[in-house]
Amino acid sequence: MKVGFIGLGHMGAAMAGSLLQAGHDVTVYNRTPSRAQGLIDRGARLANRVADACRGDAVITMLADDGAVESVVFGDGGVLKSLGKGAIHISMSTISVALSERLAAAHADAGQGFAAAPVFGRPDAAAAGNLYIMAAGDPDVVATCKPLFDAMGQKTIDIGDVPRAANLVKLSGNFLIASVMEALSEAMALIRKAGIDPHRYYDLLISTLFTGPVFKNYGGLIARQEYKPAGFAAPLGEKDIRLTLAAAEALRVPMPLASLVHDRLQTVIARGGEELDWSAVGRLAATDAGLSG
Ligand SMILES: NC(=O)c1ccc[n+]([C@@H]2O[C@H](COP(=O)([O-])OP(=O)(O)OC[C@H]3O[C@@H](n4cnc5c(N)ncnc54)[C@H](OP(=O)(O)O)[C@@H]3O)[C@@H](O)[C@H]2O)c1
Repeated sequence: MKVGFIGLGHMGAAMAGSLLQAGHDVTVYNRTPSRAQGLIDRGARLANRVADACRGDAVITMLADDGAVESVVFGDGGVLKSLGKGAIHISMSTISVALSERLAAAHADAGQGFAAAPVFGRPDAAAAGNLYIMAAGDPDVVATCKPLFDAMGQKTIDIGDVPRAANLVKLSGNFLIASVMEALSEAMALIRKAGIDPHRYYDLLISTLFTGPVFKNYGGLIARQEYKPAGFAAPLGEKDIRLTLAAAEALRVPMPLASLVHDRLQTVIARGGEELDWSAVGRLAATDAGLSG
């Protein structure tokens, strides 16, 4: 397919690489153009403006947050004004439920297709084409996007025809990951303070009752105290829990645990952890216990 890709950060650059590898005709745009060079070397075309990435069958956005998506889509020369009738915007960033709803309405008014397709998986999974993609939107639109999803992910999960549902499912998943990380962090601090080897403790966890990928990936990072370089930066994690709480407030759902993990991520950032991975809640639990971070 002829596809534009906007946002070449940790995730976007890897995902655009998967599209190239699968043989799609990819035009890339990034606010900081130098980040596109590796993809140009691999055969991507460079768009100097957002509009130039909107000339194909579809355009994918993989941007940091609501503000970035709003400016790229609704701004002057943005996606909404530039995408042809019948062409599709695939929104893969982790954004709010409210913005997803606004995007769906705006694209429908403009006669364009819209699919929400946020993902599970960190940059290493993105580079290997191993993401889990939660796709929602008009079934014909989602079906058209399938070859792109197949290139970027190991599995696409159909969340139905209401795009914002995929965004809520994604946010709920990140809330669960953050909760598991907080629990792992406290358990690791307890073990370390008692003088027990955290690496052996981690091996025990993942080979007995806690065998899932979240325990494996984040337990490993916390046991090794490996918070730099960030695969998923703490401010993005904080953003996701904030958006979960906003969705919960709109639906009148109390989520006391989400409030707690949001505070923990705020504390990581407030104490200079802006550049750390969000698993640095592990460092927080350790230093609270009087251990070295
Ligand atoms: N990293 C993960 O493990 C992971 C996993 C699943 C989902 N996600 C989600 O995927 C999205 C991207 O994450 P990431 O880790 O790739 O983030 P990242 O490395 O920080 O990249 C952010 C991207 O957004 C662009 N951007 C930021 N503000 C912008 C603005 N105002 N206007 C235009 N472009 C702007 C950046 O451009 P510049 O290069 O110019 O800064 C960059 O291309 C986020 O929504 C995140 O929550 C991340």
